[in-house]
Amino acid sequence: MIFEGEDIRAERVAELAQFGTFLGGLKFVCLKEPVVDDKKNILVAAGRSLREGILNALYEREKGSPFNLTIEKNQQLKDAVQGKVIREIEDRISLSNFSFPAYMIHTREVDVPRLVRGSLNNTAIFNYLCSLMYNNRPILGHLIEVALTSVGLLADSMIPGMKSTDFLHVFMAGLMHDAHIVDLQDWFHKENFEGDTDNGHDGASASKISQWQIPEHLPDMIRDHNRLRKIYAHTTRSAKERWYTDVSELCGAIINMVEYFTFLRRKLTTDRDDSEEKKDEFGEILYQMSYQTEQGFFPKPLIVSFERHFQKYEKFFRYGENIAAIEAKCKFKHHAMAYPKPRSTQVLCKDHTQECPFRLSSNPINIINTENKVGSRFKTQLAPGWYDKCQLTDDLPTPPFTI
Ligand SMILES: [Fe+2]
Ligand SMILES: [Fe+2]
Repeated sequence: MIFEGEDIRAERVAELAQFGTFLGGLKFVCLKEPVVDDKKNILVAAGRSLREGILNALYEREKGSPFNLTIEKNQQLKDAVQGKVIREIEDRISLSNFSFPAYMIHTREVDVPRLVRGSLNNTAIFNYLCSLMYNNRPILGHLIEVALTSVGLLADSMIPGMKSTDFLHVFMAGLMHDAHIVDLQDWFHKENFEGDTDNGHDGASASKISQWQIPEHLPDMIRDHNRLRKIYAHTTRSAKERWYTDVSELCGAIINMVEYFTFLRRKLTTDRDDSEEKKDEFGEILYQMSYQTEQGFFPKPLIVSFERHFQKYEKFFRYGENIAAIEAKCKFKHHAMAYPKPRSTQVLCKDHTQECPFRLSSNPINIINTENKVGSRFKTQLAPGWYDKCQLTDDLPTPPFTI
């Protein structure tokens, strides 16, 4: 599939079919131009939703001379893409994932669907996200994480007179920050901040997106996102200090710092030797980031905000880890589920396991709806209905704070 300008083009009929599956149904796919057979009879009218039968006729027609397979970018298709992107992101901002971006977004009460809609209104970003998702690019999760965490940190900076477009722009910049390497399976090898790995992808990403019809200051926000530059040594740790000339500079420093944070976390989790004693990754991340800030690589007021949230987040994450450990005590491995997430008050048996010694059948729990917060971090969903309470409920920890 080619996503370019106002057009989405398929090169083969099979791609049309696959694009229909991607969107959730062929009904979202209409061709921009009619397809005619050799005798000029119309096989498929322009602007009409495709169906299986039509697809079969197109497969037959494909055996003859080539024809145009441009897809109409109508409202129905745009809505389907928007729904897909929102679902993709909602998964990551669900508190039941116990992830840092989820924590940041909830703490600052950011309206993420609004940011998604605003981003998709831009044709270049619409095409870019469509292509990433359609091609199942593994970097997508990282781009979303950087975008969301950056929005959370910008919200935390609470600059007087900040506009909603500032949040939209940092979100867009976060999504595009690694545009040059999005097609790589092993994109993370390019994300190094040290050593001899080529990290010129940041400038290349900025050049790439500067060709697109996007707000003109976005390329500058990402240009040096993957390098340590000693340019903030003059800053102090005062949250009130105005160290930047405009919001774009602030956003650029935030994306740079968030990228460094994701780099450190990857490094600490992938380099860890299982035979070693478990390291304090949270402490190590905070130490490294604070150290680099004191060296002048990041603005000190930014690290203050980061530290504050990260320390509270650690407690939230540890709580999530403890909940997972309690679920893991299940005699039947995966039948126990803490409910609701993230603030769990019960453990129930999601598989109705009659023979379990932990089963407390006299205390059934009625699940009425399964919206959002019920999913565990393994994405298990509970259907509404009655469930037996599990004795592991007594082991549940007290939530560390209200979120
Ligand atoms: Fe990145
Ligand atoms: Fe990068």
